[in-house]
Amino acid sequence: MSEAEAPAAVPSDPSVAPRPIAPRHVAIIMDGNGRWAASRGLPRAEGHRRGVEALRRTVRAAGELGIGFITIFSFSSENWSRPVSEIRDLMGLLKRFIRHDLADLHKSNVRVRIIGDREGLDRDIKSLLDEAEELTIGNDGLTLVVAFNYGARQEIARAAKHLAAEVAAGRLTLDAVTPEAISARLDAPDLPDPDLVIRTSGEQRLSNFLLWQSAYSELVFLPIFWPDFDRAALEEAIAEYRRRERRFGGLIARTGS
Ligand code: IPE
Ligand code: IPE
Ligand code: MG
Repeated sequence: MSEAEAPAAVPSDPSVAPRPIAPRHVAIIMDGNGRWAASRGLPRAEGHRRGVEALRRTVRAAGELGIGFITIFSFSSENWSRPVSEIRDLMGLLKRFIRHDLADLHKSNVRVRIIGDREGLDRDIKSLLDEAEELTIGNDGLTLVVAFNYGARQEIARAAKHLAAEVAAGRLTLDAVTPEAISARLDAPDLPDPDLVIRTSGEQRLSNFLLWQSAYSELVFLPIFWPDFDRAALEEAIAEYRRRERRFGGLIARTGS
């Protein structure tokens, strides 16, 4: 077809305009469940329960917005220092979430991945985590990465230990110990680094979350508690991300996309 014959361009209708491309990988520190509950005179467990509802909304919204990977911090290596009753509540919620939501996630073509230390977890939790990964291994929609019993320093130490063992066994030379070699031994080495890390609750720290992978992530801190998080909050964080200039140490700015 010659240029003269080309059909006239369809006038652009803003309501059907293509969405700007979403960040490829969004990681979230879901914080503030306890304060959400306390501010309403409710037990902390209720905050955690409502936090699971926020998680369901968020996973749905992430899929709708075209995000490829979403990593959620659901239990840190340091959260074991909480009272036993709260740990029991959190473990119970994780089990219920997987038992109740796994089939729906699978139907929605979501692939579930787990990062963190699975050794030493109760057998029933470990087998649920394994089941979630195995059932969804062939899905190619949104990847939901659950950071459970996760600490970034522990993850980096595990990677260092693997490398040290390979050097000691003579399979690697010292010169092969590079940032890439460490990245390749993290818990989920095939995942892209997060473009955007969101933390709710107003705290402005990483609390041992993805320290290696977030070297060049944009950080967005939202003043709302996690149980109040929804699609609008996610879109607000993405809008803030788009206003940032990413330079990766160079001089050429790339706006977030
Ligand atoms: C986040 O909410 C959930 C977990 C850490 C498991 P918190 O329980 O930390 O709630 P706050 O920060 O005490 O309000
Ligand atoms: C980070 O929140 C861990 C999770 C969200 C799972 P915390 O509430 O444990 O972090 P700190 O103690 O305020 O740093
Ligand atoms: Mg907290």
